[in-house]
Amino acid sequence: MKVDVLLGLQWGDEGKGKIVDVLTPKYDIIGRFQGGPNAGHTLEFNGIKHVLRTIPSGIFHEKAVNIIGNGVVIDPVVLIAEIEALIKMGVDVRSKLLLSTKAHLILPTHRLLDAASEAAKGKEKIGSTLKGIGPTYMDKTGRNGLRIGDIKTPNFKEKYNALVEKHKQLLNFHNFQYNLEELEPEWFKAIEALKTFQQIESEHYINEAFNDNKAILAEGAQGSLLDIDFGSYPFVTSSNTICAGACTGLGIAPNRIGKVFGIFKAYCTRVGSGPFPTELFDETGDKIRNKGREFGSVTGRPRRTGWLDLPALKYAVMINGVTELMMMKADILSGFETIQVCTHYNYKGEKIDYLPYDCAPEMLSPIYTNLKGWNQDLTGLHSPEQMPEALNEYISFIEREVGVPISIVSVGPDRTQTLMRKKKELV
Ligand code: GDP
Ligand code: IMO
Ligand code: MG
Repeated sequence: MKVDVLLGLQWGDEGKGKIVDVLTPKYDIIGRFQGGPNAGHTLEFNGIKHVLRTIPSGIFHEKAVNIIGNGVVIDPVVLIAEIEALIKMGVDVRSKLLLSTKAHLILPTHRLLDAASEAAKGKEKIGSTLKGIGPTYMDKTGRNGLRIGDIKTPNFKEKYNALVEKHKQLLNFHNFQYNLEELEPEWFKAIEALKTFQQIESEHYINEAFNDNKAILAEGAQGSLLDIDFGSYPFVTSSNTICAGACTGLGIAPNRIGKVFGIFKAYCTRVGSGPFPTELFDETGDKIRNKGREFGSVTGRPRRTGWLDLPALKYAVMINGVTELMMMKADILSGFETIQVCTHYNYKGEKIDYLPYDCAPEMLSPIYTNLKGWNQDLTGLHSPEQMPEALNEYISFIEREVGVPISIVSVGPDRTQTLMRKKKELV
């Protein structure tokens, strides 16, 4: 049985957490492959709403094992807080959560460096979540990082001190004011707590499970347009959010990848800076934001909103080899007389249907097709047959343009508000 991958096709917050939770009963193992506590994956069931940051979104199910892969960066303080919240809810985290020895650690100074770097950029800032993601991946590729496998070694404190000395020099270079003594005690306390959780050589574990025919789902964080190589650089995160990231972030060979589930919202959102070709600055944008509760699950920042961008979606589908699309938040588009979909861009006076290198707003403007909206409330629907005709047309339009079937239509945040389309209904 091949390893399936689930990832976001836009700028993050597409609803990955919800769908991983919905699909988990079909899998034995859920593995997060990149990112860190910059992520916020929301799950809702039985009236409970829960946001996961580092822990895979399969953790609420009885059977599945959840692995934090080598490609993830871990802030011990955030992870321990997540674990404690789950234990309080009665989740057996100790037996179901496994940490890769090769996952890198976010130090308190990484967070300070993130803040210093953003402050130095001024108006050009990335809009980072300031969780220390960029500096931690910099130390990983710079071959200076500390890993989960280091925490039980006798010279861990020395390694920590040596890295912190380097960071202090950088912080001084930025003239950044900080109080490390305030941050260190809780960090070391969390490290002690982490020592009691299961560490594994996750690449061996996953490949053995693969050989034993276990069903494995790789869970991505962020979205393809935030990918370090293929996103709107430099306004991106610092990891490979795309399908290839599942190979490097869990130790899965490319020929072992099976289905690739691409999650997208029925419209677009972005939090943080950077190009967003279909961004709306008017009442329609506000309506989508308010109705869709588009405020960051980690930082609470209002998300920027806009219509669906097909050239960008097609780009993400291409880079990831998406085999099935899953459309989220269809319910939020109820009540619009007309729904606009961007099919092309006007780029330097030319009509193009692809995402070009330079997608700054002054270079490129969206060209829309108008589709008919629907008024029906979708949140109580139980099957795709109940969907209004205009929604069926919206779905068919996207499938035709992108060339990949939409297998799930999500109509609300709860697990149960998930419409599974049958094969015959797909293009
Ligand atoms: P993730 O980071 O991709 O897991 O997504 P987030 O959890 O950050 O953001 C998605 C938000 O939309 C969360 O608040 C979800 O509860 C919510 N959500 C997911 N699917 C739907 C849906 O179909 N309809 C509505 N109204 N909300 C949804
Ligand atoms: P999930 O997994 C949405 C954005 C930040 C910023 C840029 C870089 O919940 O979809 P970073 O903290 O990585 O240095 O920030 O990326 N960003 C996200 N946006 N969802 C996320 O994760 C994000 N993680 C990072 O807002 O623009
Ligand atoms: Mg999120």
